[in-house]
Amino acid sequence: MREIQLLVLVLSGLVGAQQQALMDYLERRLLAIEPLKSCFCLFLHRQDRISLWHEQTSRYASELREFKQQMVAQLEGLDKNKEALRSELDTVGTRVDRVEREMDYLETQNGAQPCVDVDDKLVEQQVTVVKERNKAKYAKLTDCSDMISSIKAMKILKRVGGTKGMWTKDLAGNNGKVFILNGTDEDTVYEFGTVREFTSSQGTSGATSIQLPSAWRGMGHAIYSNQLYYLKQGEEMKLIKYDLQKNIVVDTAVFPVKNQLPVYSLNPETFIDLAVDEEGLWAIYATQENERYISLAKIDPKTLDIQQMWDTPCVRENAEAAFVICGTVYVVYNSKLPSRSRIQCVFDVSDMITNDDAPHVYFPKRYGTHTSLKYSPVEQLLYAWDDGYQILYKLQMKKKLEV
Ligand SMILES: *[C@@H]1O[C@H](CO)[C@@H](O)[C@H](O)[C@H]1NC(C)=O
Repeated sequence: MREIQLLVLVLSGLVGAQQQALMDYLERRLLAIEPLKSCFCLFLHRQDRISLWHEQTSRYASELREFKQQMVAQLEGLDKNKEALRSELDTVGTRVDRVEREMDYLETQNGAQPCVDVDDKLVEQQVTVVKERNKAKYAKLTDCSDMISSIKAMKILKRVGGTKGMWTKDLAGNNGKVFILNGTDEDTVYEFGTVREFTSSQGTSGATSIQLPSAWRGMGHAIYSNQLYYLKQGEEMKLIKYDLQKNIVVDTAVFPVKNQLPVYSLNPETFIDLAVDEEGLWAIYATQENERYISLAKIDPKTLDIQQMWDTPCVRENAEAAFVICGTVYVVYNSKLPSRSRIQCVFDVSDMITNDDAPHVYFPKRYGTHTSLKYSPVEQLLYAWDDGYQILYKLQMKKKLEV
């Protein structure tokens, strides 16, 4: 598409200003890939790739210079011979295409890293930078290596609320509180002191109501260390970090990914599913760029910054929910006519388990489909919402290496 636009630009009219714009554009591209080098160096040990990088960059610089000279020469001869000019410009156009394509390639090949601690300029380029993101090695924060082997027990606690919603404990495990977020676009959180208080009360009576400053969107919220993380209702993908004790918004951030899609086809209200595991906070999301599949990002719970991103091999079609355990995403599938939910795709950021050796865990048959599944790393429980029922699943774990 861009190649075609460029070619049109080269051939049409040859107005000086356009020429200049094209050259400026190409130069900007070149400058844009330049700072990636610093980032690249942080992560690569292999000297040979670095020198290859230098070589490629300088080759593009000289190609561009040459191209520029040609353009200037052609501009001068513009009045003399229009026909000859046209055919020459065809050649130039083709070359611009090639330079463009190779630059695209270079950017995706070498811009693989989640540039931590690098220049602000890079933030703008994040979308490009992460194209080849799966190649960067993930540095684990914990030594956890558990993976799910089966569902040991299931307990239905109560039915409060509508078909869709989410319930959870504080997933950092620092208090026993239980939170109910009923519906897909509400702004009132119900808080119970303990699970017992929750199960023994009538509906939401006995709960503390917390009024949020804005409505949430979907069912992908997470509560971690007294902070509620949620996607704000609206077109813009804005994450809110809300302190449930102080009742204030602590931070907000626009999720820096364009053209987002619902993550799970069976629960189209959820655009970002926030998950907590032993490693911290994650965002499960999807974009038009990779529209059949689910993507994953590691989030800094303090600042809401994205630290690293991955494309997973897990499809969105017939997915109902997902959760993360020790850096492995488990995607749960069902069918449009609800049957048994099952884990049918896994993605491990540290590559210890592949989709082939992952256990296909089936959930006990229930009512409809899960609208949310929240993993509590402290308790190794899943907090599930199914057709208004609040369900707990106790997980049986094994070590990843024992696969
Ligand atoms: C939960 O939300 C549903 C609509 O999504 C609504 O009908 C119901 O009254 C709500 N229940 C509570 C307890 O807020």
